[in-house]
Amino acid sequence: MCGIVGAVAQRDITPVLLEGLKRLEYRGYDSCGVAVYAEGELRRARSTERVAELLSQVEKDKVAGFTGIAHTRWATHGAPATHNAHPHFSGNAKSSPRIALVHNGIIENHDELREELQAAGYVFESQTDTEVIAHLVDHLYAGDLLEAVQQATRRLTGAYAIAVFCRDEPHRVVGARHGSPLVVGRGVNENFLASDALALAGTTDQITYLEDGDVVDLQLARVWITDSEGRAVDREVHTVQVHTGAAELGPYRHYMQKEIFEQPRAVADTLQDIESITPELFGDQAYKVFKDIDNVLILACGTSYYAGLTARYWIESIAKIPVNVEIASEYRYRDSVPNPRSLVVTISQSGETADTLAALKHARGLGMEHTLTICNVATSAMVRECKLAYITRAGVEIGVASTKAFTTQLTALFLLALALAQTKDKLSEEKEAESLKALRHLPVAIGAVLALEPQIMAWADRFASKENALFLGRGMHYPIALEGALKLKEISYIHAEAYPAGELKHGPLALVTEAMPVVTIAPRDELLEKLKSNMQEVHARGGELYVFADADTRIGSSEGIHVIRMPENYGKLSPILHTIPLQLLAYHTACARGTDVDKPRNLAKSVTVE
Ligand code: G6P
Repeated sequence: MCGIVGAVAQRDITPVLLEGLKRLEYRGYDSCGVAVYAEGELRRARSTERVAELLSQVEKDKVAGFTGIAHTRWATHGAPATHNAHPHFSGNAKSSPRIALVHNGIIENHDELREELQAAGYVFESQTDTEVIAHLVDHLYAGDLLEAVQQATRRLTGAYAIAVFCRDEPHRVVGARHGSPLVVGRGVNENFLASDALALAGTTDQITYLEDGDVVDLQLARVWITDSEGRAVDREVHTVQVHTGAAELGPYRHYMQKEIFEQPRAVADTLQDIESITPELFGDQAYKVFKDIDNVLILACGTSYYAGLTARYWIESIAKIPVNVEIASEYRYRDSVPNPRSLVVTISQSGETADTLAALKHARGLGMEHTLTICNVATSAMVRECKLAYITRAGVEIGVASTKAFTTQLTALFLLALALAQTKDKLSEEKEAESLKALRHLPVAIGAVLALEPQIMAWADRFASKENALFLGRGMHYPIALEGALKLKEISYIHAEAYPAGELKHGPLALVTEAMPVVTIAPRDELLEKLKSNMQEVHARGGELYVFADADTRIGSSEGIHVIRMPENYGKLSPILHTIPLQLLAYHTACARGTDVDKPRNLAKSVTVE
């Protein structure tokens, strides 16, 4: 993924670049770096620590200048080490470096280009695919950086966004995008580039979204954009208000904890005082689209995929429309049978996930034009690419492990199930009124579950010493078990797997010993008695059950069975309530193990590479 910031200005630009990097750390934080032009040469600072450490290096080494680029990395090619950190330099070894470049994405033909450039005399200092682009630009440079970048990008295959500048043209930064996001921010006699408008908040709100194939020439008083054919193009300038996300932690230890506790507000905001269910909640054309479709295809990754799996239960049960849910990175590459009457739903917190965007484009390429996204970022590529949208209002989510984004996605997906049902004449007025009442009460119901935190903390202390855990759920709570296991592995690094409880006997039961905690989601629903039998299968083999049981399930604590009682049964919305204790369990277990909860190792918040 990686985050990019670039600037041409008449003031020391390093503070803007570093502030931008801090805000882009959600895109990766394996290493970071900055390069500026100063006194006739390129200067650089790089670190495998966080941006705060880079800042002290920059101050110590006096890295300051009017033109510069900066980068926060999520490693793909080459370990997270200083020599692999961006910016990468290129130039004749006998003089000072000439080209500085940062990159987000993956260059697929880097091996072939590397050989060619090595044969031309370039010596590589890193294992990255990025250094290949830096040398290629230098190799093609004949006095005009824009021309060199245009020529270089024609040789690249793969996905990229780049920002590059040259010692010999110090008031110019050139950017290019193909498959990875890049925006231009305009100021007065200064201009900027960034992976996301968020990086530039407070510096400029005048944002242009570059399109695939665009190359941009950024100078002090000029922004010149050419398209993939090299033709000059005008791209709209939007006034974009973004929250900086520099939210205070308040009484919380981590952003993840804060975001878990923000869920009542986030869900209420996502519901936006809805008074009745109408397709138009999803866009002007929604009624026509919903009338026309006869099935739903959901595409997503990670936690968003689990929201999609839950939605399948709702849409099939409430609207009686068949639903397929696919992992975006699989769907985009498999031979599938397209149905032009599908409603293609993408779910994405960021709206920038490369696999989900590519899967969406793939579906459209197969003739499926009815597209809808459930997304938390109104200005994102996903929203721009879809005919219909529902914007969740979770607010900025800083913790890498998704919490409030997930429960607001579920809220929006429940609304979608109701709106589809209504369009297909499957929603009676009583059902609509009853569902709206339950939705309105949801924030309060979530609040009551959050009050269980002290009991969950006591469990977390026991989990902290485990290396494995199983999660069980049935029906629409099975995806919630999957999400619970994902949360635990993401932030505590405990190996966790989730199974539909009825599937246990077909394999995973072999893993059950007294060392294996088995977290069980036990709502009071039609599958409760079946679930109790599955719990007995675990109990009989010495497994330790940790059960989140609805108030009236009659599951009591005994030797080997630990129970935390959920305040109330919440009918079809129960998966949302049962998500909360699993988030808290993962969070407190990770705290007890002392991990970096908000920035777990190897992960990133937004994954803009495939
Ligand atoms: C990353 C994040 C996950 C997220 C997934 C999909 O892996 O760490 O939390 O669920 O991307 O992201 P999206 O923005 O498309 O929901």
